[in-house]
Amino acid sequence: MNLIHIQGGVSLQGKVRIQGSKNAALPVLAATLLTKETSFIGNCPRIADVHRMVSLLKSLGCDVVWEDGGLRVNSAEVCRRDMRGEAITGMRSSLCLLGALLGRCGQVVMEHPGGCVIGVRPIDLHLKALSRMGVRFTEEAGKLKASAESLHGADISLPIPSVGATENIMLAAVMAQGDTRITGAAMEPEVTELAGYLKRCGARIEGAGTDRIVIHGGKTLYGADYRICSDRIVAGTYLFACIGAGGNVFLEDAPSAQMGTPLKVAEQMGGKLCVAEEGIYVQAPRRPKALALISTAPYPGFPTDLQSMALAVMTKSDGLCTVEETIFENRFRVAESLNSMGADIAFRDAGAVIVRGVERLQGAEVEAKELRGGAALVIAGLMAEGETVIGGCQYIYRGYENICRDLRELGARIVSV
Ligand code: UD1
Repeated sequence: MNLIHIQGGVSLQGKVRIQGSKNAALPVLAATLLTKETSFIGNCPRIADVHRMVSLLKSLGCDVVWEDGGLRVNSAEVCRRDMRGEAITGMRSSLCLLGALLGRCGQVVMEHPGGCVIGVRPIDLHLKALSRMGVRFTEEAGKLKASAESLHGADISLPIPSVGATENIMLAAVMAQGDTRITGAAMEPEVTELAGYLKRCGARIEGAGTDRIVIHGGKTLYGADYRICSDRIVAGTYLFACIGAGGNVFLEDAPSAQMGTPLKVAEQMGGKLCVAEEGIYVQAPRRPKALALISTAPYPGFPTDLQSMALAVMTKSDGLCTVEETIFENRFRVAESLNSMGADIAFRDAGAVIVRGVERLQGAEVEAKELRGGAALVIAGLMAEGETVIGGCQYIYRGYENICRDLRELGARIVSV
């Protein structure tokens, strides 16, 4: 199932339901380690990264079962503190298990977490912040060892609003003695979701969703039921697929309140949108209008995770567009593949490309090199004439439950083989 075949040139029509959010589900699943009771996490997407998180939780001693589209996690018997293997090294968000396990056991041994190859992705902010809370880090044979005799609250100022670091601090801080104040915190909805679950378990957290978060530590947490929100990046992917390929679609359950900037960008591209309680109606323009500049920024700015999809749409726009990436440095690897399909993308510098819209793209054989770039190639395949064959689709399946089924529901001619 590593190839996706697309017969392009078909406009999209119909409705698609948006899956649960990957980036919200992963830290919430890690947070289930902080209670000795059972939690039910509803609306979990059945994607490779969630399966990896499940196997990591099981390897630590948790009992985890799929039930009604969600995961029931019992963490009463957490018996191990070491994490290794592909589930850790292949997924950056395994890093949130560091804060969670420190909160639970005060000790962790882990291999360096991996993830998509979209830049250097250091973990210095995580380590510095946790050190301030009393954690000592050592490295031995390529493994990171962390231990805290007593975890205590701290004032932490983040120089970059890192999503993962904010989540890791929160996870450790709910179990620490005393208060933790984070300034410069990430404001992403996934941070608010994590706080939502932790609060339901009995934690006291104020300010999640702003750049100042206060966590009052030292509470015993209970198990809780929590429903994960829909995935704003998957919704954005299908939004831009429609803007690029043409047509009318309804994105059922799309989390419109979290999608302010992408919706504005889609409107500036000429899309007509109608936001309803149950989702978003999208009507595509005849040809996407060129935006002078699309620049990524931390939330509520334009998400770096949708940059490649917007870039794909701009390849067939009616003019010139500069696309700037300000968060991760390697996010333009997809440009070469888009050019092989007839796009006209030139590098301005390492952090920006200039796209000159062309009349048509031509199907080609291309290779996904990371998750979101892979999804952008799917959009380009829908926009192109003729057949596109995409390899390396294991990256795409890390974040999309079934991108081919979803797009087939919208009338696309797309299969995975
Ligand atoms: C999360 C998301 C990812 C999204 C990103 C930015 C998950 C599983 N992944 O990734 O999809 O693209 O937020 O919205 O939720 N940085 C450092 N040192 C650190 C940590 C980060 O320099 O210790 C830098 C990164 O290199 C990057 C920036 O901070 O330039 C933001 O990264 P961060 O917000 O931490 O991204 P992730 O949490 O890894």
